[in-house]
Amino acid sequence: MAKLREEDKTSSGFWVTKEAPIEAANAFPTPASPAPDVLRCAYMELVVTDLAASREFYVDILGLYVTEEDDRTIYLRSTEEFIHHNLVLRLGPVAAVAAFSYRVRTPEDLDRAVAFYTELGCDVRRNPEGFVKGIGDSVRVTDPLGFPYEFFHQTDHVERMSWRYDLHIPGELVRLDHFNQLTPDVPRAVRYMQDLGFRVTEDIQDEEGTVYAAWMRRKPTVHDTAMTGGDGPRMHHVCFATHEKHNILAICDKLGSLRRSDAIERGPGRHGVSNAFYLYLRDPDGHRVEVYTQDYYTGDPDNPVVTWDVHDNQRRDWWGNPVVPSWYTDGSLVLDLDGNPQPVVARTDDSEMAVTIGADGFSYTREGDREQGFKLGNTL
Ligand SMILES: [Fe+2]
Repeated sequence: MAKLREEDKTSSGFWVTKEAPIEAANAFPTPASPAPDVLRCAYMELVVTDLAASREFYVDILGLYVTEEDDRTIYLRSTEEFIHHNLVLRLGPVAAVAAFSYRVRTPEDLDRAVAFYTELGCDVRRNPEGFVKGIGDSVRVTDPLGFPYEFFHQTDHVERMSWRYDLHIPGELVRLDHFNQLTPDVPRAVRYMQDLGFRVTEDIQDEEGTVYAAWMRRKPTVHDTAMTGGDGPRMHHVCFATHEKHNILAICDKLGSLRRSDAIERGPGRHGVSNAFYLYLRDPDGHRVEVYTQDYYTGDPDNPVVTWDVHDNQRRDWWGNPVVPSWYTDGSLVLDLDGNPQPVVARTDDSEMAVTIGADGFSYTREGDREQGFKLGNTL
């Protein structure tokens, strides 16, 4: 990325450039084998320590639909979904993520996934019966960043609940939208994801070229996953979309009425990055769930990359509200393919929290302004 120059900013206050391969000093080698053709993020498998508490949160409060369940596992889906599930809750001893799962275009893409990750020297396992119910032939890998990635094509179809207005609730979650991953070295991660066929939509940088986070897509939305700079590999959040902003407000109202307002970690608000309206929740194990709506279409081949200044206090919240520290520091462990938590490696580049605590929530939105103290008052 070229140096960010003030005179190149758009009228919206960020930079727009043509997409290019990311430079990373220590990039993983690009495999000669072609990458699998990824369609979209499809589901996450979450290990939870109290299945009843998680069921109450995801089913009774958030209203996800139960495709099937037993004593140890619950398979959930969003309103518009026709594949078997978007979220698997599996009872286990340590709260963690067991799989970030992507659907691929054809069965042959699984052969490509095996060849691609074998070339990268990764732990690669294939199960023709699938690793979970409702999903057929699947490939699971521990990817070069240490994340458990899954690829599948075959899946059972289930009823799309869009027309079942008799069942819809005010805070209806209609689609799985994206994952968000914590990793210490963002350029290295982005370069690998570009090799996997992902396209960069937006990122956050500073004037030195340090990259703090990047958003990447396969489907034509802002992202299927994002890489957030931090100690990792860990999962930052999994995100479901609603149709409208008022659906998100209804979730806040419901949590208030249930005296569960402590589940609200951050928001509601409007993101700068992605332009989406957002809310961050914490489930009973502390896994972070975002609810999000109204990002933008990115399907053209020349969709421009948006770059934000890490010192722009509207990048994370368009209204300039501060980001709570837990949002920067907390994340879920991820598992290797034997079910053991992956060791967490500390980020050595500057942390976004360290360089912006003092920027988030300060007035920094107009040229020539000076930092004036916390917007919410000098109470933090
Ligand atoms: Fe997100």
